[in-house]
Amino acid sequence: MPECEPTLTSLAFDRAASNYDDTRALPADISGRVTQAILDLAPPGQPILECGVGTGRIAAPVLMRGAPLIGIDLSIEMMQRLRAKVQRAPLAQADISRLPFPDATFGAILTVHVLHLVGLWREALREFKRVLRPGGAYLNSHNFRRPDSPNARLRERWHNLVEARGYSWRRPGAQNHEQVVDELRSMGAHVEEVFVGSWTQTVTPQQELESIASRVHSDTWDVPDDVLAGTAAELRAWAITEYRDLSTPVPIERRFSFDVTRF
Ligand SMILES: C[S@@+](CC[C@H](N)C(=O)[O-])C[C@H]1O[C@@H](n2cnc3c(N)ncnc32)[C@H](O)[C@@H]1O
Repeated sequence: MPECEPTLTSLAFDRAASNYDDTRALPADISGRVTQAILDLAPPGQPILECGVGTGRIAAPVLMRGAPLIGIDLSIEMMQRLRAKVQRAPLAQADISRLPFPDATFGAILTVHVLHLVGLWREALREFKRVLRPGGAYLNSHNFRRPDSPNARLRERWHNLVEARGYSWRRPGAQNHEQVVDELRSMGAHVEEVFVGSWTQTVTPQQELESIASRVHSDTWDVPDDVLAGTAAELRAWAITEYRDLSTPVPIERRFSFDVTRF
């Protein structure tokens, strides 16, 4: 794979490579719908670029359907997992805010759960516009959590506890989905949400507490050990008052959609 100097303002996922697929898998039928949606939305036969391709959770099934997809990421370790699934996958280490491709190269650009990690995300959007062919589409999907679901409530409470101690859990990129849509519209783009699918996942409050304490998600990575331990203990005490039995499974509504942008 060609290499580049990783940018200091993005969060590469090397440390998540070994557990990413186990902790972020989509149900098989939803994964199938995501693949089909990408194939339906991308202009037929034209190259697709997935920015922040990771382990190929999204890209691998698209490649297996024979689509001309190229993946880039800062993390070689993440892409090695994709390489193990699809040996011939065209991959490069590159920063999505400085794309190493000529103007008007791709029929579609794809980002899934990436822009919150990229400090220069506004520059990345301008790069997407530059490398898209006329009539091409930029497809972006963000992580959806119902604000009243137990995992979202626990995580929000934990974020507040971290901030109360003067530390940050924030990733370097876009802070929410609305910010991205506003920026795209300010660039003159037309953005439309396309719903792909929804499903119900069951989690226990205990599992969510464990995922925070064991730093599964990137909001925990820069929090010092002592702050993580202290806030996790406080969060656990709060969860007991809120949920009583931390081992009772709670249904959580999940959904996958694409914001489809045309410049
Ligand atoms: C949460 S993972 C998502 C991976 C994949 N899109 C998926 O949905 O499974 C985000 C990926 O973006 C990569 N990444 C972060 N900043 C980046 C940047 N500036 N340029 C390229 N990749 C970046 C990370 O290394 C990581 O592999």
